[in-house]
Amino acid sequence: MLKYDFSFAFKETLESGLSFDEIFDIGKALSANFEKVFQPLPGFLRILDDDEILEEVGALKSWLQRFENFVVIGIGGSALGNQALHSSLKPINWNSLSNEKRGGKARIFLLDNVDPDLIASVLGELDLAHTVFNVISKSGTTAESMANYLVVRGLLEKLDLPVKEHFIFTTDKDNGVLRQIADNEGVRSLTIPDDVGGRFSVLTPVGLLSAVAEGIDIEQIYEGARFGKERYLRDDLKSNPAAVCALIHYAYLKKGHNISVMMPYSNRLYTLADWYRQLWAESLGKKFDLSGRIVHTGQTPVKSLGAIDQHSQVQLYNEGPKDKVVTLVKVEDFVNQLTIPFIHSDIEALSYLNGIGVGELLNAELRATSIALVANGVPNMTIIFPQIDEVHVGEFIISYEIQTAIMGFLLKVNPYDQPGVELGKKLTYALMGRKGYEEIRDRYEEKTSW
Ligand code: PA5
Repeated sequence: MLKYDFSFAFKETLESGLSFDEIFDIGKALSANFEKVFQPLPGFLRILDDDEILEEVGALKSWLQRFENFVVIGIGGSALGNQALHSSLKPINWNSLSNEKRGGKARIFLLDNVDPDLIASVLGELDLAHTVFNVISKSGTTAESMANYLVVRGLLEKLDLPVKEHFIFTTDKDNGVLRQIADNEGVRSLTIPDDVGGRFSVLTPVGLLSAVAEGIDIEQIYEGARFGKERYLRDDLKSNPAAVCALIHYAYLKKGHNISVMMPYSNRLYTLADWYRQLWAESLGKKFDLSGRIVHTGQTPVKSLGAIDQHSQVQLYNEGPKDKVVTLVKVEDFVNQLTIPFIHSDIEALSYLNGIGVGELLNAELRATSIALVANGVPNMTIIFPQIDEVHVGEFIISYEIQTAIMGFLLKVNPYDQPGVELGKKLTYALMGRKGYEEIRDRYEEKTSW
């Protein structure tokens, strides 16, 4: 079970801060309406009700074993969850381990950007005959993912490899060009449920197939997520840490804390902060509220890595504008235990480190940062992973998805749409001359000089 330390977010320790009661007063409307926020049950919670997705993805296990490399082609919500599961649950050097050390499981690569240097370096090092590509796109049309699909397909065709065998598509059940190709050519495919949006889709086939390919236990991820669903849907808000977290962020946002920093003290958990960044930004950054009023609301999420960013960002967090809420993420028991040897025991400036666990030092740094922040009047909290494993990562994911829904309610915005992203997509199509987008092109051409 994840643990939470909120003490440095409240007036009791944070002089300039809000008291526990003030924060819960601000959230009164939430207490009164808590059940309604989750009715009807959002898709990201509904999928946990049965084993359908686990079974659908699990059934591909033996097919996946044919491949040494698994490449995710997708972007945004169709990529960041895969990356977060991979980095948090596999050793940092996973892709450079021998096949034997990986237990025959696949190496994982990500083609998200359409940066030619990225594409060349990922594809350049792979033996395509032993590689499978999962093209993930809910809309089935996103320019970056489609471009990468075409590039890869071109290479496979050039090498005379059976295209159908090297692709699987994860997409909408009816719509989009990927579904069309899958149906026409008999390419394997998985379905993204209608009621689960991109950035909420990590626990669907979107995030789970690559996880299975590299030997992550997806049932355990679901176990953690299901536990989280019980824990974070409690309507007694004071005993619901996701609600407390949301209320703290909301209350301080109202006081001008427009930035939410997530700072794991763990390289493995760093990409969870990346995943969070998308979830918080895209779900809550909105021009209109639910009644159609222009509000331009949201809280800018920032990711940071402890202890590295103590030597880069923390000066600003401590002494810069008072516009942040900081969430530190701590690991109690690291997968690897490493003790600093007794060397130079006669030099005082080094001897205090002798015999200390490296993880212990990292956690002391986290504690030091949290105390320094509170001393500087910066509200902060700590989320504690007893260890990094599937169960805790599953719980973390669901806690933040629930928290985002709560924050959406508090800000009175729809957390499940992304009109700002859609506009960029349409303008890209228009700029690139896609048929059907001439009107948008003309409209914006008048205003700009593109
Ligand atoms: O959360 C979202 O909806 C977006 O970030 C999408 O995931 C992203 O734009 C990719 O879209 P698609 O899966 O349709 O290719």
